[in-house]
Amino acid sequence: MQPDQDVIKRWTGSAPFWEKHRNIIRLMFAPVTQALVEDAQISSQDSVLDVAMGPGEPALSLAALFGPGGKIVGVDPIPEMVAAARREADRLRLKNVQFDVAFADHLPLAADTFDAVVSRFGVMFFPSPVDGVREMLRVLKPGSKLALAVWHFAERNPFHHALSRVVDRYVDSPPPAADAADAFRFAPPGKLREVLIQAGAMAPSERLLRFTIQAPISVEEFWTLRREMSDKLAEKMATLSKEQAAKVKTEMLEALGEYSTDGGMSFPAEVLIVSGGKRR
Ligand SMILES: C[S@@+](CC[C@H](N)C(=O)[O-])C[C@H]1O[C@@H](n2cnc3c(N)ncnc32)[C@H](O)[C@@H]1O
Repeated sequence: MQPDQDVIKRWTGSAPFWEKHRNIIRLMFAPVTQALVEDAQISSQDSVLDVAMGPGEPALSLAALFGPGGKIVGVDPIPEMVAAARREADRLRLKNVQFDVAFADHLPLAADTFDAVVSRFGVMFFPSPVDGVREMLRVLKPGSKLALAVWHFAERNPFHHALSRVVDRYVDSPPPAADAADAFRFAPPGKLREVLIQAGAMAPSERLLRFTIQAPISVEEFWTLRREMSDKLAEKMATLSKEQAAKVKTEMLEALGEYSTDGGMSFPAEVLIVSGGKRR
């Protein structure tokens, strides 16, 4: 299937910011990484594939966690993301990782290779999620598991909603089509599980992960991080006049104040973890 050029352009533009904020992003979503490790049944000697890893997560966390025993391969279609992952692996002197440029529906990897496949916040952007999951199943060893993390509804996630609620009062934001490449494409329970069934996964299951997104930064720093991470938010802000943008920022900082604690920002969060296996 043809990659969505708009998706490619958006992720290329945000790659430098995902690299800039990598440490906070790793901390914020560590509970999601942990859930993927549990549901894909990963252990320290495994060879693991991370699809749509952006600048290297959860691949880098897994490599650091498991040490030299396991082998981690990460792929992303955006060369700038892959270069960022390689820079961090070099900085950390990790020897057990390999990063390649690849789309999910065309993995340049041999069949029956991996003990586990994971993808955190990636599958919603694939032009064909079924083809992407089929490829993950192809490269898995028989009897092994894949686990995918996707956002539950925006309204259950103030990490997103506290911001969109403010900006959407100023910018016309029609809801995306049901199958548009969007962060909340797989929010409806059962929708991604159905994709796994269509792709031929064994015993597909889904669980709701409730956790706390913790970021040891100020409200103002959080606003910068979110504006830079989210091309959509940056795009909406760019349509505003200077006066409107200043008003939005003031209202935004006020709305985010609700989630500010002594230790930094803290948001209740909900993610779906969907997993399945490859036939023996
Ligand atoms: C929200 S980021 C997630 C990054 C990382 N996994 C994390 O959790 O921090 C989504 C990633 O999906 C990648 N992506 C978009 N379309 C893709 C496709 N067709 N195949 C594989 N990855 C894709 C983007 O390049 C981007 O790096």
